[in-house]
Amino acid sequence: MQSVSTRPVAAISGAASGIGLALATLYAQRGVRVIAGYYPADPHDPAEAAAHIEAAGGEAHWLPLDVASTPSVDAFIAAGLAHFGRLDYAIANAGILRRAAIEEMSDARWEAMLNVDLSGVMRLFRAAAPHLGAGASLVAVSSIAGGVYGWQDHAHYAAAKAAVPGLCRSLAVELAARGIRCNAVIPGLIETPQSLDAENSLGPAGLAQAASAIPLGRVGRADEVARVIAFLTSEESSYLTGQSVIVDGGLTVRWPE
Ligand code: NAI
Repeated sequence: MQSVSTRPVAAISGAASGIGLALATLYAQRGVRVIAGYYPADPHDPAEAAAHIEAAGGEAHWLPLDVASTPSVDAFIAAGLAHFGRLDYAIANAGILRRAAIEEMSDARWEAMLNVDLSGVMRLFRAAAPHLGAGASLVAVSSIAGGVYGWQDHAHYAAAKAAVPGLCRSLAVELAARGIRCNAVIPGLIETPQSLDAENSLGPAGLAQAASAIPLGRVGRADEVARVIAFLTSEESSYLTGQSVIVDGGLTVRWPE
């Protein structure tokens, strides 16, 4: 049955772990209802994630979602709308990170990365846009890798993440006449399953070592990025659109030693 509540509804990709789960939990605490996308191929337990939301007093509708597939994304938004009856925010948070030097960069590796980390953002926003009204907000998650810095052995990831702010700037202009805003967040080093993966990212030891280069003296927490995303979808940022907000503890403004 459709809900008649006027409480806002947010669709989040990659909501079963890391930044996405922190955001779903934060929204639950703040009375925002969540269409929560989980990726079935990953070993996250949506039941455990759902328990987080319930404990925070919130309402979430969990749905399988593969942002690499247009039918999956379209079905995700359609099912979320059928459940809640409205859509106010879409958060393109889902992402993958793989290590590949340029010599190993097959077309398949390159395309698989861009299909999730760049085209996946476009697919979510494309499916959401027709259903949004004035005051709605889109947010995509980029990265300091690509969004600011280069990163060896990660050219495909950095290329995708560098393109995300451009996509957001364009949609900010395109959708402004309808009162819809679009921004990117650019996280620095945040402790999540992605960054803790020593094969493709820094891993626990690399994160601990990197902390000393960060002016605030530590890596970030997922909830610290989630609160910036929530700000970008809230009325508090009603005149902010087309921007990319770097959330990195000061890492990218530090004078190189
Ligand atoms: P995470 O690995 O916990 O989250 C990524 C989520 O995306 C997972 O829930 C995963 O199941 C989902 N996902 C992967 N492929 C998908 C697909 N094809 N369709 C739908 N969902 C899919 O890691 P984290 O860190 O929370 O990542 C969230 C976003 O933040 C990602 O876009 C990531 O690239 C970005 N980011 C993370 C940083 C960090 O230091 N942790 C730094 C900069 C950006």
